[in-house]
Amino acid sequence: MCKKCWIVVSLLLLLIAGAGYQFMIAGDNASSPDGRIAIPLSPAEKDLVLTEMRSFLNALQQISSGISEADFKLISEQARLLGSAAQQGVPISLMGKLPLSFKKLGFDTHQKFDLLAMDAEQLQDKEHTLKQMSTLMSNCVSCHAAYKIETIVTK
Ligand code: HEC
Repeated sequence: MCKKCWIVVSLLLLLIAGAGYQFMIAGDNASSPDGRIAIPLSPAEKDLVLTEMRSFLNALQQISSGISEADFKLISEQARLLGSAAQQGVPISLMGKLPLSFKKLGFDTHQKFDLLAMDAEQLQDKEHTLKQMSTLMSNCVSCHAAYKIETIVTK
């Protein structure tokens, strides 16, 4: 192949690698005055993320109530609602805007809900569920300490 062609091919590959990095790993983000990373999202995307957040909180409330009443059916039902299946509704365009470590924490949180649901059903052990809930909630804490959402009008 000619020398120029190689240059063109190399440049294109670099471009693809750069776009891949931006989409898969970096996402869109900027640091904010409170030290957290601000993820710029459209108002609709922000709504979607925050709606999921409120259902996280709701599930935790239900699960803690389930623990206090030894209602393992309630615990597993509520936890399963927030399991890995729940993340399938996230649009790919939104996925591309989220930094990789944010997505990892998000996926891990859904998996922890799956495990909590399964164990509640099979083991019916309040102490164990409580411990799992505490570990799961450390994901909530660390993500909130690291990230915030910034609304952008055009995008
Ligand atoms: C992968 C990151 C991540 C994880 C994990 C996470 N959150 Fe969030 N959550 C966020 C971000 C980002 C916001 C927006 C914060 C901001 O902009 O200041 C948020 C906001 C919220 C809000 C406010 C919702 C609203 O309507 O304003 C609640 C409630 C919440 N999260 C609950 C939870 C709970 C409970 C968990 C754990 C089960 C959790 N979140 C796990 C990232 C996360």
